[in-house]
Amino acid sequence: MPYAVDADISAARTLDSRFYRDAEAFSTARERVFARSWQWLGPLGDVAENGSLAPRDLLPGLLDEPLLLSRDGAGALRCLSNVCTHRGNILVKAPCRAEQIRCGYHSRRFDLAGKMIFMPEFLGVKDFPAASDNLPQVAFGEWAGHGFAALDPAAPLDEFVADVKARVSWLPLERFECDATRDRDFDIDAHWALYVENYLEGFHIPFVHAGLNQVVDYGSYSSETFRYANLQLALAKPGESAFEPPPGSPDHGKRIAAYYWFVFPNLMLNFYPWGLSLNLVQPRAIDRTRVSFRSFVFDRSKLDAGAGSGLDRVEAEDEAIVVAVQRGVRSRFYRHGRYSPTRERGVHHFHRLLCEFLA
Ligand code: FES
Ligand SMILES: [Fe+2]
Repeated sequence: MPYAVDADISAARTLDSRFYRDAEAFSTARERVFARSWQWLGPLGDVAENGSLAPRDLLPGLLDEPLLLSRDGAGALRCLSNVCTHRGNILVKAPCRAEQIRCGYHSRRFDLAGKMIFMPEFLGVKDFPAASDNLPQVAFGEWAGHGFAALDPAAPLDEFVADVKARVSWLPLERFECDATRDRDFDIDAHWALYVENYLEGFHIPFVHAGLNQVVDYGSYSSETFRYANLQLALAKPGESAFEPPPGSPDHGKRIAAYYWFVFPNLMLNFYPWGLSLNLVQPRAIDRTRVSFRSFVFDRSKLDAGAGSGLDRVEAEDEAIVVAVQRGVRSRFYRHGRYSPTRERGVHHFHRLLCEFLA
């Protein structure tokens, strides 16, 4: 049965709770939502040089697609299948420099664009080589030194990220530095969409996050929706750490504690005065989700102030709520809720996109 959520938030009921319980809905979302959207592949530092290869596993435990980033001798970067077209061996297991891609099983070779160029013991094989012997190329895009891939994109990468790009264009994203000492991975016993929904509303801040509530101005907290992304803007209380966007930015004149950007279906880009906290939501099973936090720092002096500090505590508070909701959506008595038109527009937008992709 298809899922539907009314476009009019004041008339709408929230997503049917079957979505969080039904194994078929989970696998439909894997193919209709995750395979058709842009997935973050991380920074591209390991394929910076011409003639380099780096493997990436696309959403382990969900899509589980072995991919290979390949930068050829002329500098062109491609995303290829990392599976040998002969009998299916994984081709590249660690980042390396190379002139060709050579399979370790029977020595089939490909050039860095994925074209099969050599295969031992295949003389006399009919219709060989054919196009299907080359490595399939996967839709790929770059933004600010990060790679994104989509197996079967519903729209170009730019349509997913253009609104974010434009709004934070005054930030020197290319100079943000990855700080692996701040990496965190959280395993949460809940459906992935419950984690996303909780992220998409600041409604719960005064009730769940006492510490965060001290530094952001709840009254002016706002939410804007775009085609595939949405933005929650938190203004800083007087004296708290803030961005001051330059003239030309639509946010000029505001003191911003954080830009909380969500890119459908599972990427969160939280810009704080110290840099970017990127959160990737990775479904592992219908009731298990891994959320990875990665930090990209550009002003170290601001790391321990304002909305961008104490992120581990905020995460623990969110996790406890999301796990409680996971138990609740399994109840025989819970089917739908309603939305607050002032505080839950982001959740409504997310549910509408889910319904669109699942249709
Ligand atoms: S599987 Fe790659 S050459 Fe046989
Ligand atoms: Fe929260």
